[in-house]
Amino acid sequence: MIDKNIVIFASGSGSNAENIAKYFEKSSNVKIKAIFCNKPDAYVLQRAKNLNIESFLFNKEDFYNSEKVLNKLKEIKPDLIVLAGFLWLIPENIINEYRGKIINIHPALLPKFGGKGMFGENVHRAVFENKETKTGITIHYVNEKYDEGDIIFQAETKIDEHDTPQSIAEKVHALEYKFFPKIIEELLNL
Ligand code: GRF
Repeated sequence: MIDKNIVIFASGSGSNAENIAKYFEKSSNVKIKAIFCNKPDAYVLQRAKNLNIESFLFNKEDFYNSEKVLNKLKEIKPDLIVLAGFLWLIPENIINEYRGKIINIHPALLPKFGGKGMFGENVHRAVFENKETKTGITIHYVNEKYDEGDIIFQAETKIDEHDTPQSIAEKVHALEYKFFPKIIEELLNL
């Protein structure tokens, strides 16, 4: 019997979304019910199709000035909402309804390298330019502010003098793929 529903929000490529979906593909009690997306040309929509997962596309107006997205969530009744490379701030109506049930992954060790504009390659370039000796991932609860909710989990990786923003990104992605599905599973079993 399926008793835990997940909704994933993504804006871009969606490699994390796919990795999570594959992790739970054979699970009898966890189901990825839908991928919510704000970009009509995002590759994650193609991945959703390939994975046979419903996708739900919305625009800024739907998200910030209507109940469309909230209502769709209410239909699905997610136990957990997972932001995996989703770039818009979650509006208050959704935060209030699902407080403590929305998590995000950030590709650095928060509170460093977080906040508005700190996403994707920008983060890895900033880490590189700052000559950090380590970086990593942060999985955290989502609140009204970018990257400021309580931290659930962090994992680190070393940076050495041969690393480039590109190789740092690869190391961080590897951590994301390894840990994000497992942390989701742990949270669902709480
Ligand atoms: C990931 O690095 C994630 O941490 C971040 O955005 C990136 C998304 O990559 N916030 P993908 O779309 O899952 O490939």
